[in-house]
Amino acid sequence: MPLLKIIELNQNTQLLVWKIAESFDELFNSVALKEVSLARLESMKSESHQKGFLSVRRLLATAGYTDFDLYYDEFGKPHLKDNKHISISHSHAFSVIALSDEIIGVDLEQLKEKTLKIAPRFMDIAHLENLSDENRLRKATVVWGIKEGVFKIKNEKGISFPDHIFEHDFDLKDQKCTAELRFNNRVEYFDILFDFIEDYVFVCAFEKK
Ligand SMILES: CC(C)(COP(=O)(O)OP(=O)(O)OC[C@H]1O[C@@H](n2cnc3c(N)ncnc32)[C@H](O)[C@@H]1OP(=O)(O)O)[C@@H](O)C(=O)NCCC(=O)NCCS
Repeated sequence: MPLLKIIELNQNTQLLVWKIAESFDELFNSVALKEVSLARLESMKSESHQKGFLSVRRLLATAGYTDFDLYYDEFGKPHLKDNKHISISHSHAFSVIALSDEIIGVDLEQLKEKTLKIAPRFMDIAHLENLSDENRLRKATVVWGIKEGVFKIKNEKGISFPDHIFEHDFDLKDQKCTAELRFNNRVEYFDILFDFIEDYVFVCAFEKK
């Protein structure tokens, strides 16, 4: 299945979701790549990562862009030549891009028991109290996604998930929450939207206006 859906996250932000069901060859033959992207693709160790990378180019095409419109800064953050903001995430079965007039950070995570096991290392585990096992896993995964999303917005060296990015407590059913970054003697606030697709979570972070 190719494009799964386009979700309007707000007035000027779209999330495009690809369900990766194609073979490597199918994806490869359906996109044109710059030399530098071809070299990157060849350097990737797993086919799953390669398919994620290629499916992102299919999502770009859906939005009217090509690989030639995308470039990366020195930290690996993607940018579009027309100054629209983009954020990218891929994980096994799915890939997503978020396109916006605002700076955004998107993350896609598969629900995995391991995330719950390491939760004390990256989040306030008081936020997992009084939940069913299933919801503890879902919430811990959302929090991980929040931290990845905020990190992708800030794109600054030295930001640590447990020491600098803090989720404010939330209910899973609200599909939104807030978070803050305390870094370099400044506090910045973020609005977060999240949702679930099959056994995956996607999280999109926005700078609070
Ligand atoms: C860069 C990072 C955010 C990527 O996240 P990931 O979960 O490994 O992978 P995702 O699929 O979600 O995202 C990958 C995409 O993020 C984007 N990206 C990479 N570096 C980025 C950066 N510095 N800023 C914003 N976006 C970035 C790229 O588009 C990349 O995909 P592409 O290269 O194929 O285009 C992550 O590896 C990272 O460095 N996190 C912070 C480190 C950290 O604190 N870790 C945990 C400590 S407890």
